[in-house]
Amino acid sequence: MTPWFCTRCNEEQVAFGALPQVLLCHTCREADAARTRFTEAGAGVPARYRNLTREDWCARFRSRWPDELAHWSGDPQWVAIWGPTGTGKTGLATVLLAEHLRTGRRGHWISGPELSRRIQRDFANTEDVIVPLLVTPLLVLDEPLTGAAADWYLERLLLITRTRDEECLPTIVTSQLLPELIATPSALAPPPLLSRWLSGLRIETGGEDIRLQEAL
Ligand SMILES: Nc1ncnc2c1ncn2[C@@H]1O[C@H](COP(=O)(O)OP(=O)(O)O)[C@@H](O)[C@H]1O
Ligand SMILES: [Mg+2]
Ligand SMILES: [Zn+2]
Repeated sequence: MTPWFCTRCNEEQVAFGALPQVLLCHTCREADAARTRFTEAGAGVPARYRNLTREDWCARFRSRWPDELAHWSGDPQWVAIWGPTGTGKTGLATVLLAEHLRTGRRGHWISGPELSRRIQRDFANTEDVIVPLLVTPLLVLDEPLTGAAADWYLERLLLITRTRDEECLPTIVTSQLLPELIATPSALAPPPLLSRWLSGLRIETGGEDIRLQEAL
């Protein structure tokens, strides 16, 4: 039996075999694990979008932070962000998620293509993929309509949407396509999805795009 001390909290420990490589006690290790669960990487935010702030966003897009989002923290529950590609939709959504995570709460980030990929990877066990998205306190659904154009995908998307709606869980949806889809609903975006996604705040990026303004 070899006594050793946790290098962080100084609690005395004992090793029955060799000393651990990292001299941290069980409690301190657990604390580390909990911290990484709440990071942007842990929430699924792609590397490109990590560690961004409102100030970065405003500087990059030479734009004011949307007034409606100045104090948003989940009420109303749904936020739909739309605009042409490259106008900061994903960045906007991700900053909101990052701010939420920085207060020590959980959240998730998933894109349409990634969600379809994960469902397809193991059709028999999609619960592991879907359940966290049903219950997470804040979800970013990035371009959900660019996932697989298949029933199995839309069914899951509807389940996520309906469950979060019923549980009043804050959800941010980004989409390039929303204005067109509102004008002409299609099988690609069934009304049960659209009506919920659009039931809260609607934020448009890249306001000078004339095509979008006409669609509104
Ligand atoms: N908050 C931010 N601060 C700085 N740069 C950003 C931020 N958000 C996005 N960007 C950069 O701008 C690019 C386009 O923004 P993005 O949010 O992806 O637009 P969209 O989702 O509308 O296509 C991204 O690839 C990213 O590099
Ligand atoms: Mg995007
Ligand atoms: Zn310790």
